[in-house]
Amino acid sequence: MMIDGKCRIVGAGPVFRDVKQACPDDGMPYTLGRMKNIVILISGRGSNMEAIVDTCAGEQWPARIAAVISNKASASGLQFAAGRGIPTAVVDHKAFDTREAFDAELARVIDGFSPDLVVLAGFMRILTEGFVRHFEGRMLNIHPSLLPAFPGLRTHERAIEAGCKLAGATVHFVTPDLDHGPIVAQAAVPVLNSDTADSLAARVLTQEHLIYPRAVRWFVEEALQLQGGRVTHKQGATQLLIGD
Ligand code: GRF
Repeated sequence: MMIDGKCRIVGAGPVFRDVKQACPDDGMPYTLGRMKNIVILISGRGSNMEAIVDTCAGEQWPARIAAVISNKASASGLQFAAGRGIPTAVVDHKAFDTREAFDAELARVIDGFSPDLVVLAGFMRILTEGFVRHFEGRMLNIHPSLLPAFPGLRTHERAIEAGCKLAGATVHFVTPDLDHGPIVAQAAVPVLNSDTADSLAARVLTQEHLIYPRAVRWFVEEALQLQGGRVTHKQGATQLLIGD
């Protein structure tokens, strides 16, 4: 379906534009009566998106992946999502003159899926403050470093260069300050003397596939609380994973 010249919905599967329409609030217990809509943004292979899709289905979260959206038509993760019957869309950033115009269209497309949560999973765009504020408190990102160390790019290379003995990944709420929002979960792995940026990235990615689904599930279950910039789990679940 063409929405306009700049956005393509290419996937199949049910689309519930309205949560109440999809699952009316009829007084059923929360897990039966209220499915949350998750919209996932990717730019490439989408392995974190895959982990979230599979865990959501496998653990039967009270949530559905309402859409997977990419700024690149070539993102291979789109095929995986479409294969699972998840609606997919492309909003090509190159079709817009300004960051603001791209973000406005992206927000419009995301909002069309009535998201309770927006999940950035390897979405390689710097977002405008207006976009971030629109989804503030309901947008998560995963960053491949132990924030606040190494925001930005080349995280594994920089960790090795700095002589770090621990590296890892961080799931955080997105704020206008790039890679700096309140931390939901972290996974740490040792940095080995033999590590290259690639070998370290591969071990960190294995942990990303564990902590990101876990963090998204906590959000869906409304198990997270934010106080004074700190995120804690209401029942005290550990927010730190140590890998190897
Ligand atoms: C991951 O390392 C993630 O931490 C970073 O980008 C990478 C995306 O990988 N933000 P994938 O597309 O999820 O496989």
